Amino acid sequence: MKIYIGSDHGGFTLKSQLIDYLGQHFPAYVVEDCGTDSSDSVDYPIFGKMVAQQVVSDPTSLGIIVCGSGIGISIAANKIKGARAALCNSVELATLARQHNGANILAMGERTKFIDEPTAIVKTFLETSIDLSERHERRRALLDSL
Ligand code: RB5
Repeated sequence: MKIYIGSDHGGFTLKSQLIDYLGQHFPAYVVEDCGTDSSDSVDYPIFGKMVAQQVVSDPTSLGIIVCGSGIGISIAANKIKGARAALCNSVELATLARQHNGANILAMGERTKFIDEPTAIVKTFLETSIDLSERHERRRALLDSL
């Protein structure tokens, strides 16, 4: 499976840490770094859009996006049809985002407080399957119809 990962400067350090983590703990996954490449100031919508477009064009893939708050980059990603980016600071939210919402992109805010370690949140997001029960399927279909 492919993981597209991207950030602005506010998420660059965490993104780099997560790329290392994925390489060590999920060697079977192919990680594609969509940038940014340094802590120099850049505009988060560019990277949210880039990751979301890649994930939508490759339905077997997942995405990870990071900015300072996690908010701007997730707003950007969610403007791409088919993207379901969920801003999570806990394992609980990552679980629900996958099970109920079928989130295909995990968003995090590097400069914000985390309830759980970001690596634990990523692990949960990657390992949790979508709940296929009828009510969740119906709600996700409604999301897709918006
Ligand atoms: C960049 O300074 C910051 O605004 C950005 O990383 C993010 O927090 C936006 O939502």
